[in-house]
Amino acid sequence: MGVLKDCINNKKIESIPIWFMRQAGRYLPEFRKIRSENTDFIKLCLNPGLSKEITLQPLRRYPIDAAIIFSDILLIPYALGQRIEFKKGFGPKLGDLDLKNILNISDEQIFNKLQPVYELIKRTSTAEELKNKDLIGFIGGTWTLLVYMINKKSPKNTIINDIYGSKNLDDLLKKLIHIQKLHIKYQVENGANIIQIFDSWAGLIKKDKLDKFIYEPTKELVEYTKSLNVEAICFPRNIESYKEYCNIVKPSAVNIDYEVDPKKIVENIDIPVQGGMDPKYLLFEKNEMLKNAEKYLEIFKNHKYIFNLGHGVLPETNPENIRALVDFVKEFK
Ligand code: CP3
Repeated sequence: MGVLKDCINNKKIESIPIWFMRQAGRYLPEFRKIRSENTDFIKLCLNPGLSKEITLQPLRRYPIDAAIIFSDILLIPYALGQRIEFKKGFGPKLGDLDLKNILNISDEQIFNKLQPVYELIKRTSTAEELKNKDLIGFIGGTWTLLVYMINKKSPKNTIINDIYGSKNLDDLLKKLIHIQKLHIKYQVENGANIIQIFDSWAGLIKKDKLDKFIYEPTKELVEYTKSLNVEAICFPRNIESYKEYCNIVKPSAVNIDYEVDPKKIVENIDIPVQGGMDPKYLLFEKNEMLKNAEKYLEIFKNHKYIFNLGHGVLPETNPENIRALVDFVKEFK
């Protein structure tokens, strides 16, 4: 157990907790080495020895406060039998959705397919590097998973109208929520002590669909996570109203994106906040980067705040900039 949990639970902490989305990834040469020897990304996620190693890589370099498991939100569609490929420079490419097959898949089949993820969590949670630190498990938001499963690739910024009209959507929605709960449960049972819910495409939803596809399912998943005595951090990226989202979904903490004005957030939201800084600032010269970090630290000075970014670390980031940023945040008073 570490300082993220303490911060969220209003306990006294010495310095501002810090970790990064995509802290294990392509900006690290040690990750690129393993990745170049393992071209099948899903297989790599399902190799507990290697995925544990990748999860711990950033903790060996930096005094950050949490590990996030090396896995992917698209392992749920994978476990449901949808074909997935990661194409260089294109992102994920999914196969056709076989709804009949998906609805017939048993909980046991899901467990068997994702068992290496739970094994990774079990092995990582007892690692020396994780002493007094938090281990973050995660799932994709129900809406974001639907977007990938139906659109079969990243939607970029196009509006994806056909999602709402797709056949038997209610059955798929119900099945997804059920599997998401199972995936949360097994992650927690094996040692994840915080769950982050990544709803990366929340910003694309039509207003009149928010209740059905984002608020209701996420509220249910947050309640379920809390019932396991684990905190749920939600990241509804680019959502129109973080305030309304927090009032309805009631996450333990909320991760904000880099487009929303942090001053508005601090005035309107009273739960703990995580993240916000634009990852592009990590590509800038050091002082420029730190100036932007300071902006967030000052704004959230009297608020429960976990330092992170408004999206994942970019592959072009210089690892030394991460070091400078971690040192700066740790020393900020
Ligand atoms: O944050 C971490 O360090 C933990 C691991 C993690 C990954 N993906 C590893 C990964 C997490 C938490 C995710 C979540 C994820 N995956 C999201 C939600 C967060 C976000 O980024 O919005 C989404 C939408 C996905 C789906 C996904 N996976 C995409 C769109 C891509 C391709 C785009 C890209 O960044 O390359 C992936 C691949 C992926 N997942 C990589 C990593 C390290 C890159 C794989 C590679 O080495 O080629």
